[in-house]
Amino acid sequence: MAANRTFSIIKPDATRRNLTGAVTKMLEEAGLRVVASKRIRMTREQAEGFYAVHKERPFFNDLVAFMTSGPVVVQVLEGEDAVKRNRDVMGATNPENAEEGTIRKTYAESIEANSVHGSDSDENAATEIAFFFKPEEIVG
Ligand code: TYD
Repeated sequence: MAANRTFSIIKPDATRRNLTGAVTKMLEEAGLRVVASKRIRMTREQAEGFYAVHKERPFFNDLVAFMTSGPVVVQVLEGEDAVKRNRDVMGATNPENAEEGTIRKTYAESIEANSVHGSDSDENAATEIAFFFKPEEIVG
């Protein structure tokens, strides 16, 4: 399959513990290339918009509070089968269920403070990339 792209976030629990490099290294070692990256403080509006699909879920307000609690690093990742490759190296949402060697098993603190986000489909990847990046900010 040809190289394609996905969207990643290094979440506040990981930036707080100075793990931006360590997480990025695991992404790179999984065969993904960082073709865009920026460190931002998400606004409440951005976090609510980004997670709009979860608006009715009981964890939504806590999730928005967590995602705005500190800096995040938003990234575009490129690689063969990028969405699946990234989901595999991230591990399960709940770190208790994540496999050994995954980012979440290695670094996540809880189901909420689980260190990374990764798009779950090519369609969502395109939407999420466009939410945070202009085309000219992505350099493949
Ligand atoms: P989800 O899209 O289900 O997981 P993933 O990030 O693995 O694609 O959920 C989005 C985020 O919502 C998840 O990374 C952490 C948070 N979350 C909770 O805080 N509690 C929960 O019970 C669930 C399911 C998710």
